[in-house]
Amino acid sequence: MESKIKNICCIGAGYVGGPTMAVLADKCPHINVSVVDINQSRIDAWNNEDLTLLPIYEPGLKAIVRRCRNKNLYFSDEVEKNIAKADMIFISVNTPTKTKGIGAGQASDLKWIEKSARQIANFAQEETIVVEKSTLPVRTAETIQRILRETNKNNSLDKKKTFSVLSNPEFLAEGTAIKDLENPDRVLIGGEDIKAIEELKKIYLNWIDPSKIIISNIWSSELSKLIANAFLAQRISSINSITSLCEATGANITEVSKAIGLDSRIGTKFITPGPGFGGSCFKKDILNLIYICNYYGLKEVADYWSKVLDINQWQKQRITEIIIKNLFGTVNGKKLAILGFAFKANTNDTRESPAIEICKNLINEGANLAIYDPKVSSDQIEKELNISQSNYNEENFTDGSWESQEDLGCALKGSDAAIILTEWDMFQELNWAELTKLMRPPYWIFDTRNITKKNLEDLEGLNLWRLGIDQ
Ligand code: NAD
Ligand code: UDX
Repeated sequence: MESKIKNICCIGAGYVGGPTMAVLADKCPHINVSVVDINQSRIDAWNNEDLTLLPIYEPGLKAIVRRCRNKNLYFSDEVEKNIAKADMIFISVNTPTKTKGIGAGQASDLKWIEKSARQIANFAQEETIVVEKSTLPVRTAETIQRILRETNKNNSLDKKKTFSVLSNPEFLAEGTAIKDLENPDRVLIGGEDIKAIEELKKIYLNWIDPSKIIISNIWSSELSKLIANAFLAQRISSINSITSLCEATGANITEVSKAIGLDSRIGTKFITPGPGFGGSCFKKDILNLIYICNYYGLKEVADYWSKVLDINQWQKQRITEIIIKNLFGTVNGKKLAILGFAFKANTNDTRESPAIEICKNLINEGANLAIYDPKVSSDQIEKELNISQSNYNEENFTDGSWESQEDLGCALKGSDAAIILTEWDMFQELNWAELTKLMRPPYWIFDTRNITKKNLEDLEGLNLWRLGIDQ
């Protein structure tokens, strides 16, 4: 199918822009794709010769970048130049929760979206299709359309410029981004301009079955993204709320989860209990949903969704208290090994990771943490904890400290407990019979992801706590 689109520009080279455009370039060798960002060091990292130093860790990403980079996939800080060249522009910039002003703590901060829209209005040429890829509050397209329309109204030279705005939210999950992009459950396109919709659809048809591409009005498309995330998060809070009931009653959350999940109306996905959902999306998007509901006077709806966040918060607090209670009521001066800091396995992303809050709570109680994560750097941990790293010293421990360890054995040496916070595959295979010899008895494993093998129960001297299972 002949496509008019020859040059694509994506504004934002982050967790969405980078992988999404890499897959698009891989599947559409006839299209030139430029991913631009104002963050110079991020662009440098995308262009690094050494592919292990890409700014984002995603299984399968390295191979695609190796195939396409500098052939039809480019990473650049030349935002204006690449906007000017493009027939289609994806906006994949960040939309975090506002930290000040009206709606602070709830509404999405759209300043990066607005800036992108103004850059497009000023530098795009002739006919341009603008695609919202970022997750946005319903009716944001209206703002983008106004900026695009009105910026050039009085400039006769720019009269030939035209813009069509489409919504095309991204549903990828980190850790499985490449798989999700190559084989999505659905692709959603919202808009009014039939020709623009057809152009975007033609791109996806290069690798996606037509039955999976659904078209809707633009507001439904924007809202569907927020609601998909809210529903997914709600399932996690639902199962997490039941972990405490299992612990109180002797029921086993793994068995309960399996039994309910086999009901095809419920399904098996997203009912795995854990230390609370993290990641850059769920909390931000539910807060935004709450804000929008309140804005439209729908307080009951807003209250309903805020409970999903309350349970998530409570789960992290609850786990901290269980750890302290089992370690004779105090962790002050004790060394605790933290296994995993990323918000889920197979990513180096730590945004909103439950590990942040649990670690901060434990440091606050005087614990000395040795943090081990196979993909997260010590700089990243320091940024998230906002506490300087200090080396653990048995004789001279500080009143609450942390250090990053590149060796799991060193992290565990002399520790009173291993606390599993991320479900990395490697943590499932550990030889605890050997590793516990490094620890200080009576030693504990707190498994907040329920990934330790059952036979651990027979290990002499081991105290094992698993979420929603053992008490
Ligand atoms: P991110 O912070 O990783 O990346 C955004 C990038 O945009 C940053 O590198 C930033 O420097 C750049 N940027 C901001 N303003 C710019 C401008 N004017 N010009 C050029 N570059 C600019 O964010 P992300 O995780 O990729 O998320 C982007 C959007 O996608 C958000 O709305 C998010 O909610 C949504 N989303 C994220 C995921 C996910 O798994 N992370 C999944 C689906 C949707
Ligand atoms: C999520 C959505 O899944 C994705 O569709 C959207 O585009 C972006 O937000 P992401 O946050 O990357 O993706 O990962 P996800 O797999 O949804 O996990 C989010 C959090 O929930 C993680 O902390 C994960 O450990 C936790 N989780 C997930 C559970 O605790 N239990 C589950 O059953 C599933």
